Parts: sequence; structure tokens; C-alpha cells
Amino acid sequence: MTTPKTGCPLEKLTDLTPLSATTTCADPAAAYQRLRTDWGGPVAAVELEPGVPAWLVMGYRELRAVVRNEQHYSRNSKNWRLLAEGHIGAGSGLAPIMSPRDNAYFSDGATHRRLRGPLVDGLAGLSEHRMARDVGETCDLLIDRLPADGPIDLVAQYAAQVPMLTVAGLFGIAPDLGDRLQACVIALFGSGEDSAERFREMETILTGVINEHRTAPAEDLTTAFLNHPGHRDDGEVLASMLLMLGAGWETLQVWIAQTLRIMLTDPRFDGKVRGGHLGIDDALDDVLWRDPPMANQPTRWTLTDTVVGDQRIARGDALILGLAAANRDSWAGADKRVDSGNRAHLAFGVGPHACPAQRVARLIARTAVETALHRLPDARLAVPAAEIRLRPSPWTRGPAELLINATRTVC
Ligand code: HEM
Repeated sequence: MTTPKTGCPLEKLTDLTPLSATTTCADPAAAYQRLRTDWGGPVAAVELEPGVPAWLVMGYRELRAVVRNEQHYSRNSKNWRLLAEGHIGAGSGLAPIMSPRDNAYFSDGATHRRLRGPLVDGLAGLSEHRMARDVGETCDLLIDRLPADGPIDLVAQYAAQVPMLTVAGLFGIAPDLGDRLQACVIALFGSGEDSAERFREMETILTGVINEHRTAPAEDLTTAFLNHPGHRDDGEVLASMLLMLGAGWETLQVWIAQTLRIMLTDPRFDGKVRGGHLGIDDALDDVLWRDPPMANQPTRWTLTDTVVGDQRIARGDALILGLAAANRDSWAGADKRVDSGNRAHLAFGVGPHACPAQRVARLIARTAVETALHRLPDARLAVPAAEIRLRPSPWTRGPAELLINATRTVC
């Protein structure tokens, strides 16, 4: 590892720690502490993929200050110096999450507020009662599809299926199309050869959904998006739908899987059902503090030369939000957390881009965990807890599979 040289251009630094070292290790607290020590503070240089460096912001106060200051830190990757100078190849695995699109995620200021309006208003207009019923039915349907006796992989056969089907349901998208969209999103996040083709397929499916809703409006998010003055045309509606389906998929899957993992392995959360003293909402919160689904959140780009956490940062550098690291910062009050109902964690982000779907995401995650524990009452891990493999992603930290033995009860 190079000695940190304040002011040294990011791209000149070599032998950097890969960002994925923080998400694929057994002890992320130790990994973040090593970075803090090596870099003498809460901002460290890391490698996103070979030859692509970025700064990881790990301090609770520093991270909140960055995301609240849109004048200096942009969400738009057009400001990325490495991209502008051609350092990011066409085949880079970073393309699906870094390539700029015309949606709320990649915009700042007034454009962001205009494009975020339909998301916030659309979500606020959803009926909690109807949502709870529909999500519950989807979860039951997925449990019905499981083998009657284990072994079952709760990640592939359940946690990965729930988000796409439930979020697609909010848009009035039929389950068979939800299945196809799910395959597309998996290809997209996998950054494989077929990712561009699958992205076009997603656009085609969603354009069909938009056209159907134009002729037959319904009480769902697609119609709410079409009617919202914040969207100027169907292209913007499409971009917002793609954003919602993409943003909800991996995060929810990891949140559900991590919560099921601790409910099955941690005696504190052995479910009130099974005599543990903390329930499902406590387990959901514990994951948001200790293992937030987006452990490392991309990205802000600096609009000026600046200093963050004593580290000199050049204009156009990429800043990754170390949400998991910042949650562990003593400033976060992490020591008080779950038992006291403290929700000051950063798992959903903070500031103008904070997740607009927190209420809906919790409803889906809680229903998914509740349904699984209720319908698989004797679920037991099929492998020792220490042998659960982790996903290879540098952004999210969660189980790659969760093999259980269980008897499925009939609904
Ligand atoms: C129904 C599921 C979900 C949907 C539809 C959804 C949607 C979104 C959208 C549209 C944004 C971008 C907002 C903007 O840029 O203004 C966003 C941001 C974000 N979401 Fe969610 N989300 C979901 C679930 C989750 C979950 C489960 C988590 C993790 C616990 C999460 C964490 C975040 C974070 C960290 C950000 C970015 C904050 C930032 O960069 O400052 N989301 N979400």
C-alpha cells in the first residue's frame, strides 16, 4: 500500500485496497478500521475495479456534509474526470451503475427536485392496506412454489424473487412480466455480455406497460407517473420506472436475506415466536445498522478542488459513500441502537437523494421475513453459519445463498 500523499492525484496512487475487500470479508469493522489507519482519517483511496480509483468516505459527519452540499458534490457522472478522460472502458463493469441517465438519481438541484417529485408523490399515494395484501399474496405464492421439504436456498428461491415481483406489482405489471424483468435486472447487475441487450428488453417491456396504461389507466404507480406534471414525456416516465425497479431490487433482496440470516442464527432474534426477546422490526433495524444493504453507496463527483476529512480531493474525483463504515463511527451513536429504537443510521442515505421508498421497502421486507418464518416454522440452516458465502459485490454485503432445511406449511 502506498503511503498516503495528500494532494497526490487519485489516478497516480497504486496498490490500493479493492472496495470489495470491505464487503466480502468476515469482519468489515476491521477492514474499515485498517483503511482509516492506513489513510490517517475517515477518507481513504480505494480501487473500484483494476485501474479505477475513488475516495471512500467513512466518517458519519463527513458523509452527511458531502451529501447535503450539492453545490460542491454532484450526482451526475458527467462530472467524472476518469470517464471524461477515457479511463473507463466500454466493457467496464461499472457502466450499469455509473453511466448517466435522465432520472432523479443522476441529477442535481432543480432538475432533481422535478424528477423526484413523481417518485415521492406516487409512493405517498399508495394504499398501505392494499400494498400489504398484495405483497403478502406474492410472498405466499413464492413459498407455495418451494419444494414441500427442504433443502431450500432462501436467497435464490425467495429473497431475490420478492423485490422484483412486489415492486413490479406496484406499477401494475403482471407477475410473468415481473419474472422477465427480474432476469433482465440480474443480467444488468452482472455486467455480462448480454447486459446491453437485456436493458433494451427491459425498455421494450416497460414501454408496453406505459402504452397499456395510457389507454387503460389504473390505480397504480404507472398511472401516477404518467399523470404527474414532474414528468415531461413518456421517456422520463420510462427512466423513472427503470430507476425504481433497479434501485429496489438488490437492496431489498440483501435486506431480506440478511434479516432472515440473523433470525436463523442470532439467539437475540430467534423471533418472539421462538422465545427470542427481539422481533422482526428489531432484526430489520439491526441489519440497517450493522450490515446496511448498500454498504458502499455510489457516488458523488466533486465540482471543485476540496478537502474532506483532511484529505485533499481534486475536482472530478469520485466519492463513494461508506454507509456501513459511517454507521460504525462513534458519532452515529451506534452503541445505543437497536434496543433503544435508534434509527439514526445511514442505510437509506440522507439529504436530497435519500431513499424515497423507505416506508414501502420496510413493508415489503417485513412481510417477506414474516411470511417466510410463518410458513417455514421449523427452518434451520443446512450449513454452519460461519460457512455462509457472501455476494461478490463491492456495493452490497449479504449472503450469496442461505441454504435451509424446512417443512413448508400449507397457507
Ligand atoms: C421498494 C424498494 C426501493 C425502491 C423503489 C427504492 C428507490 C430508490 C430511489 C428511486 C432512489 C434515488 C432517489 C434520488 O436520487 O432522489 C433511492 C436511493 C437510495 N436508496 Fe432506495 N429504494 C428501495 C429500497 C431501498 C432499500 C431496501 C435500501 C437499503 C436499506 C435503499 C437504500 C437507498 C440508498 C442508500 C439510496 C441513495 C442515497 C444517496 O445516494 O444519497 N433503498 N432508492
